[in-house]
Amino acid sequence: MPARLIDGNAIGAEMRAELGAEIAGLKKKAVTPGLAVVLVGDNPASEVYVRMKGKACDEAGLYHETVKLSKETPEGELMSLLERLNANPQIHGILVQLPLPKQIDTNRVLHRVDPRKDVDGFHPENVGKVAGGDPSGFRPATPYGVQQLLIRSDVETKGAHAVVVGRSSIVGRPMAALLLQDGKGGNATVTVCHSRTRNIAEHTRQADILIVAIGKPEFVSGDMVKPGAVVIDVGVNRVDDPSKKSGYRLVGDVQFDEAKQVASAITPVPGGVGPMTITMLLYNTVQAAKQWSSR
Ligand code: GUN
Repeated sequence: MPARLIDGNAIGAEMRAELGAEIAGLKKKAVTPGLAVVLVGDNPASEVYVRMKGKACDEAGLYHETVKLSKETPEGELMSLLERLNANPQIHGILVQLPLPKQIDTNRVLHRVDPRKDVDGFHPENVGKVAGGDPSGFRPATPYGVQQLLIRSDVETKGAHAVVVGRSSIVGRPMAALLLQDGKGGNATVTVCHSRTRNIAEHTRQADILIVAIGKPEFVSGDMVKPGAVVIDVGVNRVDDPSKKSGYRLVGDVQFDEAKQVASAITPVPGGVGPMTITMLLYNTVQAAKQWSSR
């Protein structure tokens, strides 16, 4: 029997409806959650993501500012902008879109965002809290969204063997930390594989829950999936497709058609993890506004 589809559009919409009530409550107290999105340079994929984030804020009734800087922007100028945003009471969340141009030291920039406004969860204070299992830290949007997909699709993580493929600081590492936490969507036994792992298939075939974020189109084939596993595909890759008007199509890091014959549940690309990432960014921004308004 083919796998059940885990629908990120539907689960994201459900969460945004819940958030709507919180946003309305804040507005009654004259607080409109505000997000600043900073884009440096003209990376086309980043431009699309930034536009989607702004649109999602508009639809949810959040205030937002998108600041676009040229790709030659010196690091000092970006730092001054962050200081202004850190001090701006209308802004509760700050996101610096990655990757940054070469002349800018990404770590120094991520250190400069006020950790209380770090809705991306990339400041070392929040990274440390998530790694240490402290729930007061902001959780990075993509792995947090994956965790919500699992919880809201009734996938039991407790005691399950979760295999994460990919060790990026945006997805793989925080994903492993969230799955290890004690609580709902946690308590898993976690294996992390990466580009240097010997015989990855041997590991992926052990997974009750397989989360793939390695950034290689259709890397995981059907025979790498254990029968009955839950497969979460975080990848978004453009591959050439002359049959499409755009000349390309989007595929994940998993061979969907093969894996869905083996898995018990699977996320599609698009329409799986993607919509959850933006939902969790809105969620973190609302939490940040709540924390600021209660100080
Ligand atoms: N680039 C790719 N993913 C992300 C993300 O989640 N946040 C930011 N700021 N940049 C990204």
